[in-house]
Amino acid sequence: MAPVCPGQGALMPSDTIRWVGDENGHAELIDQTRLPLECEYITCRTIERMWEAIRVLSIRGAPALGIAAAMGLVLGIKDSRAETSAGLLEDIQKQKQYLETSRPTAVNLFWALERMERVARENRHLPVAALRRRLLDEALAMQEEDRRICRAIGKNGAELLHHGDCVLTHCNAGALATADYGTALAVVYRANEEGKRVSVIAGETRPLLQGARLTAWELKESAIPVTLICDNMAARVMHEKRVDAVVVGADRIASNGDTANKIGTYGLSVLAMWHRVPFYVAAPISTFDMQAADGDAIPIEQRGREEVACWGGHTVAPPEVDVYNPAFDITPAGNITAIITEKGVASAPDRAKMASLHAGPDSSQNNTKTSQ
Ligand code: MRU
Repeated sequence: MAPVCPGQGALMPSDTIRWVGDENGHAELIDQTRLPLECEYITCRTIERMWEAIRVLSIRGAPALGIAAAMGLVLGIKDSRAETSAGLLEDIQKQKQYLETSRPTAVNLFWALERMERVARENRHLPVAALRRRLLDEALAMQEEDRRICRAIGKNGAELLHHGDCVLTHCNAGALATADYGTALAVVYRANEEGKRVSVIAGETRPLLQGARLTAWELKESAIPVTLICDNMAARVMHEKRVDAVVVGADRIASNGDTANKIGTYGLSVLAMWHRVPFYVAAPISTFDMQAADGDAIPIEQRGREEVACWGGHTVAPPEVDVYNPAFDITPAGNITAIITEKGVASAPDRAKMASLHAGPDSSQNNTKTSQ
């Protein structure tokens, strides 16, 4: 079921981003800005190169951003001159702050960097070389965990789909956004593995077209039936009863269940309510931000005017026109039928259900489901 990278065989779980060598090695990642026309890897040997790859969306999607940030930190201390672990810890904090400026909304990036800093503190008794090795191991462990988490999300979510369902999704929350086969798309992949013959309608996702370029490509390569629509066709396809469920990913979920995801997700949730179509968010627990009281506390990335004013490499708007380009929006918890995680499913999410899911046991280890 794994997608195929043209000319390179099946995309293996580690292929979106991978580490090559020991703690002095480098990261390689698929340049997602060039898909679907070319499937090329970028080599990141420095933290600055990783920062740039994150900023321009060569690597993107919340879980993949966490792994990229962790590997970026390993790159950032490769040439550290620190002779003591206390000195290395200072370098780690500096590099962490730098990576935090790359993109603001996906909380997984911050979560991963916090985790790396914590591990560094806990292991400050180690010599510098051993501490650097320990941090690489942690980054690789995050990648490994993400694989297991994707599988558990897929299993928990697939139970909500029926034979022959058509799922509308937005942006790309698949293999290209994670270390395995995604979050929202994991639900689709798993349902198909179970023989449910689920098809997908992919919204193109203006302005950067992650739906058209990435989701459509990934699903086609995996032989999952997919139909591409422009974003403004969603109401029409729901009215025509072509959509049985909307399943999207998330970049940050506040403690009351309000969810930040790619711009356009909020609109889909309103349409889904109007047409009585279930609206599901699929995300790992690492996407929960329990410090954020609600969606208003989530920072929304603002991006450049050229992404909106251009189309296919050509300027299509008057040069002087004002442009507004928020990259994400907030779907209120009240619009969400259920949040699907590796720990289980929270139906009609609210503050209490979010807290209990967040604190609950990780069922992904034994693949059992704790539904609420
Ligand atoms: O700007 P992007 O492409 O990084 O936005 C990605 C999304 O909005 C995804 O839906 C989200 O990160 C979930 S990925 C499993």
